[in-house]
Amino acid sequence: MTRPISPAAGQPKGRRPLGSLIWAGLSLMLLTGALATRSAGADTHTDDGYRLWLRYVPVQGEWLERYRRSVSELIAANARGPAARAPAALSPTLRVAQAELVRGLTGLLGTTPPLAPDVTRDGAIVFGTPASSALVRRLPLALSRVGDEGYIIRSVAIAGHRATVIAGNTDIGVLYGAFRFLRLMQTRAPLEHLDIASSPRIRRRVLDHWDNLDGTVERGYAGDSLWKWDSLPEHLSPRYADYARACASIGINGAVLNNVNASPFILTPLYLRKVAALAGVFRPYGIRVYLSVPFSAPVTLGKLSSADPLDPKVRAWWAAKVAQIYRDIPDFGGFLMKANSEGQPGPEDYGRTQAQGADMLAQALAAHGGILMWRAFVYSTGAHSEDRARQAYDTFKPLDGRFADNVLVQVKNGPIDFQPREPFHPLFGAMPHTNLMLELEVTKEYLGQQTSFVYLGPLFEEVLRADTWARGAGSTVARVIDGSLYGERLTAIAGVANIGSDRNWCGSIFNQANWYVFGRMAWNPDLSARAIAAEWVKMTFTSDPRFVQPVVRLMMGSREAAVDYMTPLGLASQMAAGTHFGPGPWVAPGKGMPPDWSSTYYSRADAAGIGFDRTASGSDAVAQYSPHVAAEFSHLATCPEDLLLWFHHLPWDYRLRSGRTLWESLVLHYDRGVAWVQQARGTWRGLSRYVDPERYRLTADFLAIQQKDAQWWRDASIAYFQSISHRPLPAGVAPPPDTLAHYEAFCIPYVEGSPGAGPACPPADVSVPR
Ligand code: GCU
Repeated sequence: MTRPISPAAGQPKGRRPLGSLIWAGLSLMLLTGALATRSAGADTHTDDGYRLWLRYVPVQGEWLERYRRSVSELIAANARGPAARAPAALSPTLRVAQAELVRGLTGLLGTTPPLAPDVTRDGAIVFGTPASSALVRRLPLALSRVGDEGYIIRSVAIAGHRATVIAGNTDIGVLYGAFRFLRLMQTRAPLEHLDIASSPRIRRRVLDHWDNLDGTVERGYAGDSLWKWDSLPEHLSPRYADYARACASIGINGAVLNNVNASPFILTPLYLRKVAALAGVFRPYGIRVYLSVPFSAPVTLGKLSSADPLDPKVRAWWAAKVAQIYRDIPDFGGFLMKANSEGQPGPEDYGRTQAQGADMLAQALAAHGGILMWRAFVYSTGAHSEDRARQAYDTFKPLDGRFADNVLVQVKNGPIDFQPREPFHPLFGAMPHTNLMLELEVTKEYLGQQTSFVYLGPLFEEVLRADTWARGAGSTVARVIDGSLYGERLTAIAGVANIGSDRNWCGSIFNQANWYVFGRMAWNPDLSARAIAAEWVKMTFTSDPRFVQPVVRLMMGSREAAVDYMTPLGLASQMAAGTHFGPGPWVAPGKGMPPDWSSTYYSRADAAGIGFDRTASGSDAVAQYSPHVAAEFSHLATCPEDLLLWFHHLPWDYRLRSGRTLWESLVLHYDRGVAWVQQARGTWRGLSRYVDPERYRLTADFLAIQQKDAQWWRDASIAYFQSISHRPLPAGVAPPPDTLAHYEAFCIPYVEGSPGAGPACPPADVSVPR
């Protein structure tokens, strides 16, 4: 219900002032929009997951009463006070913020709060910046402390009425504040005595889309690319704005639109027009676009004879290309570069260093305020065959201090490649004179892809909290990337997106939590995975503790369970070749398979034992860490058990702290992982009454698939490693039901988002492992 807006004071009777007419019109427009939202979302009997965590379902009971007392009317961002003739036009971002508040409050409270030009009663929600709102300007909020993206939400008194103010220095700060205010209600937090000041700890919070121009997504398990290149720029799918809105709700402020294995076409005028159109949709939501570019573009696109970064013609080509981009996209974010990695071209092709390559692009971008994210994921198979884990550090550490101010070296969380568990990357803390950013993989390439229930919060938390000891205790990865350890001003974090054209965006409902947790930790890397999980569950499903508690427990245990049944005790890269789906511990070098893409290279399982010796007696990769950490990982007494086989090759009968042998422990981890999935299915079954049928069913079906997969992983891994260890299974442990030959013969040739498994998976007429 909307109350009519009262005419502005001081206007002659009989004539409606222009300001009032505009207010009324705007209010009606927003109401219509809000009602449309409600009718679309009112059916709680079925939910396809499209609305993500922004569902705004009606609050019930006592909370509804409380919230209605705290929220009675909305004072627009351009409120000028009663004497003003007409409000100033709202900026696109403030329009979005206002629409979100109307939409959210309407959904949550069941009525549309009236939009008023001034505070008229208790429960007013005032929002805006000092520049847009006279009310905000008059309040002593000390806004300077929240910077250019932060916000303040505070309970205040205005004209003798209780009010809540949502304020930022910038429009985007206000939008972030609006989402936070709605989140308070979605998670049933009290609104009575608010005093919140929040600003992001990391400046660039970016999603990397590995989307190809042909509509496929590398390592994408949620359908095709969200970007419909063929119909851009003319047609702007409503999903583009919905995507941007979801990103803004968790503070993401950048999107790299295309795959790091980049096509030169992205830099052609044909595609740049499409990119500009997307940038236009994202702009009100505070999201800049970035592009992945191929290092060889001056040759493939510019028809130059070389892409040598020291060649003036090459530098001029990039400068002109960048200028062309900025003509159409003035707030363009910059480039992401994968060079000299997995066959991609790079400066080393011309005998130049990574820093020389980066410098060329950095200069071109700096002229327009752009940045360059230059990946440290540099390796060529065979080049560092004694230990691929060493390569990024060996390449980049000597270049510390050689990168321009607008360059960030983008480092994956671990030294290999997004495994279920890796130690933190040794480059963190090791380049004090270089901007380092963290790259996480939100898409679950190595963690069961779309069907497995794996919440990545604990993985992200583990790396962010890892202590590099670079400047003594407390030199966490979070402090390296937020700039507080070495004082960098340009800071960033990237997550490889898990978003596609599937109606539910991420392939499964619980994968949405991984998009969510990435954004939340990018805003504040000190947030806990558990707290974020609870927040997400309440917003996405219900705040009923009988549902929240068991589901948060499941989420928090899910990643460790996957580690248990896939690669326990520090094992890594045991997945099937190519697809990275399912077990492939037997994958060995040869037949086109380079050593460092094979599983046996990483497990080093032999008659004597298992594990990769990265101590001084082996590859000595451990020496890349600071002395304190290197000592901890090197010594068996202090090496964390969950990284044991990452750093050590140990005899099968080596005794772990539990008193069990390594072999027995390995087997028990596999069993534990399978048991977890079985229990998770039971827990989920018991929660069906709290979930709509569609999301319940999808999750239940996927858990059933996961149980099969976990069993397959366990059986195949035990069969393979037992063929090498020649040890009996611990008492009471069931032997794998099939022979090793059977598991080796069975593989899944194609999965969404991946190249086929290739020669490692010839067709075989064998049944599915039980
Ligand atoms: C992994 C992944 C590739 C991807 C690469 C990268 O190796 O399997 O598909 O291109 O990472 O991060 O560049």
